[in-house]
Amino acid sequence: MSLPKINPVNTDAWKKLIAHKDIVNKKSLKELFSEDKNRIDHFTIEFDQINVDFSKNLIDQETFNLLLNLANECKLKESIGKLFSGKAINETENRSVLHTALRDFKSDIQSIINDREKVQSLCDKIINGKLKGQTGKKYTDVVNIGIGGSDLGPKMAVEALKFYKNHLNIHFISNVDGDHAADILKKLNPETTFFIIVSKTFTTQETLTNAGIAKEWISNNLKTNEISNHFCAVSSNLNAVENFGINKDLIFSMYDFIGGRFSMWGSVGLSIAISVGYENFEKFLKGAEKMDNHFKNASFEKNIPVCLSLIGIWNSNFLNAETQAIIPYNESLCFLPNYLQQAMMESNGKNIDRSGNKIDYSTGSIIWGGTGTNTQHAFFQLIHQSNRLIPCDFIGFKKCLHGNTDSHNKLMSNYVGQMEALMVGKNMEDVVNDLKINGTSLEEINKVSAFKIFGGSKPTNSILFEQLSPESFGMLIAMYEHIIFTKGIIWNIFSFDQWGVELGKVLASKLLTEIQSGEIRNHDQSTKSLLKKLKN
Ligand code: F6P
Repeated sequence: MSLPKINPVNTDAWKKLIAHKDIVNKKSLKELFSEDKNRIDHFTIEFDQINVDFSKNLIDQETFNLLLNLANECKLKESIGKLFSGKAINETENRSVLHTALRDFKSDIQSIINDREKVQSLCDKIINGKLKGQTGKKYTDVVNIGIGGSDLGPKMAVEALKFYKNHLNIHFISNVDGDHAADILKKLNPETTFFIIVSKTFTTQETLTNAGIAKEWISNNLKTNEISNHFCAVSSNLNAVENFGINKDLIFSMYDFIGGRFSMWGSVGLSIAISVGYENFEKFLKGAEKMDNHFKNASFEKNIPVCLSLIGIWNSNFLNAETQAIIPYNESLCFLPNYLQQAMMESNGKNIDRSGNKIDYSTGSIIWGGTGTNTQHAFFQLIHQSNRLIPCDFIGFKKCLHGNTDSHNKLMSNYVGQMEALMVGKNMEDVVNDLKINGTSLEEINKVSAFKIFGGSKPTNSILFEQLSPESFGMLIAMYEHIIFTKGIIWNIFSFDQWGVELGKVLASKLLTEIQSGEIRNHDQSTKSLLKKLKN
């Protein structure tokens, strides 16, 4: 029933990988390429409209075979079956994990089918102006209020799919920073603004505070207590939502079998559907469904999420990479790194294994990144020339959306060029030759050449799509979700709980009363001193 509890370190494959690491480590990526004339075929996967090239990693065929053995020894296939069949694999919360059901158009889970219809109906009414505000005007702006999984996915998706958007403007308020809420609201007209309050628990301090601000803003400005036209909510806490004053018909469900950070495929994605229309929203779900079927059915050596997970584990557990950079070469994907920070770090940042034992190997990498080419002019220096190993995912699209091929060719030449530079580097001989060709004096060459060397052999994955569309975007995000799952299985951790976020929340709510009342209790010196400075 439950997930396997296999310590990966004790598997045969892991032990062999440790020994094998020293052999591969002695080789550069250039050497690995010259040893295998068909390397690109061995380490490329084509599926639907994606081309994934992981050949620029410090692996050879033996590494790859051992990693595949690791997946088998950790019973990955069996675990994938458990994920899709709805077994209660979130054991610490005794819940199933069924975000894939939200985009499974063959599923007969009636509540999910009903939710889709309800999302479509509200989304159509807002877009075509049938649903109006209290003063009879059509909506022009929609504000999503939520945080974490109730914000990051929708915010990323609305931005990613802005090419497909309609006339409505979507805004996001997440932080309990009154200045941010005020900045957003001051641009909006209360008569034509609709709010979506998204909170699975409907107890989250940030969201409830911002929802309260929005409610007051509507009732003060429209001089009415009748606010229900302007609000809907997505939550599993129906009583709390009703108490807030939201019309029963406008309450959308969230389920305990869908984790917050995996929830944008359901009603949490309302802002996405409103922004691009329900038809496009469904294409986004169908893209994810395609990736789900690929993950479920493809053999491991041609399975994109499985291969990228194994490469990730190789880089972090065997080559000691502590971080992973996500570099989309597309400005619309600017929020992808933020989204993946929560998705990956909240899921796999754990140090207790599935048997309840302390883990002594690395789990959950540190995720960071930004869009290319901007990041090339910011942090790529460190990736190219520091002593750290920072594997990067490069995400690109063959075609652009607005037809500016000149810019797109330049963008994609950077995409390819950076990966090539990271791989081949530049040795002393080449540096000196180039300087000589440029007529640099011998004295100057001796002075500067060492600084111009690039070590190369920095691992990258190229994840290349035809074009950014609701469907390809759905595939991309589902791919990362399955990478999270696969890594969690091999690391022998529970990926779908997040107990680590609780302690700070509890302390913050206790400290709030101390800041408000000025009665400071017993704390360490530093906490006390900060509280004294902040007391009202
Ligand atoms: O603090 C983390 C977290 O619990 C996330 O997992 C979740 O996405 C977020 O808070 C928001 O929670 P809720 O949807 O219940 O407001």
